Amino acid sequence: MSQAETVEATPLVVETPEQLKDMPEEYRSLVVRQLMAHAEGELSGADDYVKLFYFLTEDPYEKKVCCELAIDELDHYQRAADILMDIGVDTSFMISQGLDERAFYATEAVKSCQNWAERALISYLVEDAVIDVLEEMAESSYKPIADMCPKVLKDEKLHVGHGFRITRQMSRSEEGVAELNDALTRMWPVTLDTFGNSDSPRSEQYVKWGLRKRGYQEARERFAARARTKLQALGLTVPADEDNRKFL
Ligand SMILES: [Fe+2]
Ligand SMILES: [Fe+2]
Repeated sequence: MSQAETVEATPLVVETPEQLKDMPEEYRSLVVRQLMAHAEGELSGADDYVKLFYFLTEDPYEKKVCCELAIDELDHYQRAADILMDIGVDTSFMISQGLDERAFYATEAVKSCQNWAERALISYLVEDAVIDVLEEMAESSYKPIADMCPKVLKDEKLHVGHGFRITRQMSRSEEGVAELNDALTRMWPVTLDTFGNSDSPRSEQYVKWGLRKRGYQEARERFAARARTKLQALGLTVPADEDNRKFL
């Protein structure tokens, strides 16, 4: 093996904000962009739980879950915001933004929720899609991002588990299946949109710099195949992956 090949095979690791300053602008701007989108998504997640889901149930236990999981999402926001602050990027403006004003996170999934079936699917599907992305970020070349992920992933797995239990419970009645199928026509495409626009140049740039493992389309297809199987096992009807998408 030549020396050049040996060097190329060594994974990039950027340990600190100081080392980040010495990286090319493309790398730095991707780190900032990825963290901004993540921080914004977490804040919107917190808002979903206490501004949307909370008002869709009369069950005190479910209201309590909404409050508890919103606390997790705010903690996840804070972890990303701290990493950004360490590199001179202040995200405090996001706190006072409404759901419709947030522009980094490329999905409509977090901006509205019309009923309890959609609430179930947002946790069961959208938060599971977030887990796939976070598992890639857990191996990030920027070490503060990698270090952020294990705690966030642990929480998100519980959030998805709760979404699964609501979905499974609803799927046990004919009426519930109909409500879930109806919700899937909206939530399936917006979940797949969560992975980003396949045409975005950032898709390959993230992979090139070790900030992601997979391009947007590959990550989306991998998620869709797995999620479709699980939904069908509950007796649900999953729309085609191309239907009603904001972008492909
Ligand atoms: Fe989160
Ligand atoms: Fe979550």
